[in-house]
Amino acid sequence: MYEEYFRLREKPFSLTPDPGFLYLSESHQQALDHLLFGLESGEGFIVVTGDIGVGKTTVCRALLRKLPDRFDTALVVNTLLTEKELLRTILGDFGVDVPGGTRKDLLDALNRFLLDAAERERRPVLIVDEAQNLAPPLLEQVRLLSNLETEKRKLLQIVLFGQKELKEKLRLPELRQFNQRITVRARIRPLNLRETARYIQHRLSVAGAPGGPFLSPVAERMLFRRSRGVPRRINQLCDRALLSVCLRNAARVEREDVVRAECSLGDGPEGGAPGWPWRWFRWRGGWA
Ligand SMILES: Nc1ncnc2c1ncn2[C@@H]1O[C@H](COP(=O)(O)OP(=O)(O)O)[C@@H](O)[C@H]1O
Ligand SMILES: [Mg+2]
Repeated sequence: MYEEYFRLREKPFSLTPDPGFLYLSESHQQALDHLLFGLESGEGFIVVTGDIGVGKTTVCRALLRKLPDRFDTALVVNTLLTEKELLRTILGDFGVDVPGGTRKDLLDALNRFLLDAAERERRPVLIVDEAQNLAPPLLEQVRLLSNLETEKRKLLQIVLFGQKELKEKLRLPELRQFNQRITVRARIRPLNLRETARYIQHRLSVAGAPGGPFLSPVAERMLFRRSRGVPRRINQLCDRALLSVCLRNAARVEREDVVRAECSLGDGPEGGAPGWPWRWFRWRGGWA
């Protein structure tokens, strides 16, 4: 809507986890380093946690882009599956013809694929996003997959991304073995004030913004406070704030734009709606 006004090539604050927009805060960088290093060194079992919208899926996509060619990956994103469906998804993603039949047939097929991959010096990795949704029996199934090994090393490395409920699940007594198996843990944290400002600037410049301070210092601090440094929330607020700047025919995000953005998202200081459409209406000049 406002892309043309700001001379942008694309939407700077969309909610898709596009790794092309990746900004590496200290915590995102650390998570990615842990992942790459862990997988390179055959660590086997990696868990990355973080709150909603903090950038887990984005880091996951960035990882897929950065992994060297010798890694084969299977990515599971739908975690509301049965055990058989999970195995079928993994096999399908590794490019194995999925046999019909029992759970054992599926496991045998996976085992054959993994042994063959090991022989060809390939490094298969199973990545599960939204892993907090996996029911305990499925987590147990995943752990069993991590048991497959040769004398030298694991046949399958596993990475789980999940919200903090995943951590809580892993503390359940029936998942104790699972918990003990984890070799690398990383946590993605929200951005701090400085990172929030850089993040916003970074996304704008990837979208083609021609430099310049886009935010007043007050707006910057306010965006940080209202988003608590969570990228998803920053994106939502910035998207609305830019629209507000555009409607004001202005050049830079000011405090009022952030207030308006927050109200339009329905959670402003006064609870947002229902007051907000009228305020917006008045602000646009009423009927005049
Ligand atoms: N490090 C980052 N760099 C750029 N954009 C990010 C980053 N982290 C999160 N985002 C953006 O924030 C939004 C939510 O990120 P996402 O990866 O879906 O979070 P999660 O999977 O943790 O819920 C997406 O629009 C994504 O592009
Ligand atoms: Mg996600």
